Amino acid sequence: MNDRPNSLAARDIAYYFHPATNARRHEKVGPMMIERGEGIHVYDDQGKEYIEGLAGLWSVAVGFGEPRLVKAAAEQMAKLPFYHSFSHKSHPSATKLAERLVGMAPGMSKAHFTSSGSEANDLTTKMIWYYNNALGRPQKKKIIARQKGYHGVTIASGSLTGLPNFHRDFDLPIPQVKHVSCPNFWRFGKPGETEEDFSTRLAEELDAMIVAEGPETVAAFIGEPVMGAGGVMPPPSGYWRKIQDVCRKHDVLIVADEVITGFGRTGNAFACQTYDIAPDFMVVSKALTSSYLPLSAILFTDKIYQTLADNSQKIGVFAHGFTASGHPVATAVALENLDILEERGLLTVARELGPQFQARLQGFASHPHVGEARGVGMIGALEFVADKATKAAFDPPGSMGAKIAEACHEEGLIIRAIGDVIAFCPPLIIKPAEIDEMFNRFERALKRVSA
Ligand SMILES: Cc1ncc(COP(=O)(O)O)c(C=O)c1O
Repeated sequence: MNDRPNSLAARDIAYYFHPATNARRHEKVGPMMIERGEGIHVYDDQGKEYIEGLAGLWSVAVGFGEPRLVKAAAEQMAKLPFYHSFSHKSHPSATKLAERLVGMAPGMSKAHFTSSGSEANDLTTKMIWYYNNALGRPQKKKIIARQKGYHGVTIASGSLTGLPNFHRDFDLPIPQVKHVSCPNFWRFGKPGETEEDFSTRLAEELDAMIVAEGPETVAAFIGEPVMGAGGVMPPPSGYWRKIQDVCRKHDVLIVADEVITGFGRTGNAFACQTYDIAPDFMVVSKALTSSYLPLSAILFTDKIYQTLADNSQKIGVFAHGFTASGHPVATAVALENLDILEERGLLTVARELGPQFQARLQGFASHPHVGEARGVGMIGALEFVADKATKAAFDPPGSMGAKIAEACHEEGLIIRAIGDVIAFCPPLIIKPAEIDEMFNRFERALKRVSA
């Protein structure tokens, strides 16, 4: 006899300290154990089927169980399961993927690989510092991000993230990171202000912060073209044009974090195309491999490359790299995944499906507790409020979101509750009838909660 727990759920509680989870609550409620997936669906260990309304974590663009990705991984594993890219070594899939990404992303001239969005934003921060040191501007190091922005969880990227829980008790943010206001017009616009005025005000705020800090100390501005994990917030009209003007005026680099928006989510390969953003750095991940394997990439312009390259020559090396940088199996899966996205028209499918998806979302706008229904392409959210007129939040905040998420599970739907914001971001392979089914399940869940 031993006293080891034997159900999988009990073993999970006993041994697994989960990411982004309340550990004490987990001891009580245990895991939702997902065993397999197919298309837009996943199945739990009881065999119950769910529509994955968030594509896992905004990521499984080609859906679950795609045999071509399994085959690409298996073939690469058999041929060359691992090799690295340090000190002039390379392997075909990393080279081909770098070429492919540079070809797809307007204005970008080089690609460098990491394994997660957090690592990519962390390294982008290091590259920006290295770049300004190389240019003899050791003061120019601060990075301005936004409240409610999400850029990951490592020390630099967690600092860039503008969500209090990601800082609290982790001693973040680091002093080089500053945050400006969240660009959500519905929540933060002032009475009488138009959306365009709101964007002007936020650009002026950025300008004032750069001037107050000293332009010679501000290196970069980072933003998600459409805010994701902070609650799905498309930019207000004119926002990116005005923000870019301010950055250019002060020689401040622009980093577009396309970790969620990249590879078709907004109807173009990149949301930078949707919103006319010309960044110096672009960070991509998630739909790059449909998250079948961990992979992210930092893409940057020739201007950045020339300075980094000169400095590596001066020092003798660009002394950064991970064992898994450009991992052969992950990059092989990415190449096959990009083939699938292109062959099936998934990079632009949001133009066709987006109107239906957004119309269904707007159908909930008249609900007595929906403050705002918002989105673009195939990403969207409903923000629930206790009082529609005052936009007052529920007490405690997040209580409504948690109830809705639970009711959705009962109805066979997985969405993401970000406090009281319910986010939708289904796999891009979703069909029109499945979009309706997803929102029908959501409607039934909402009725359950109201009852
Ligand atoms: C915009 C954005 N950037 C960065 C990240 C961090 O990526 P990862 O979880 O792979 O570290 C995320 C994750 O959701 C994200 O949405």
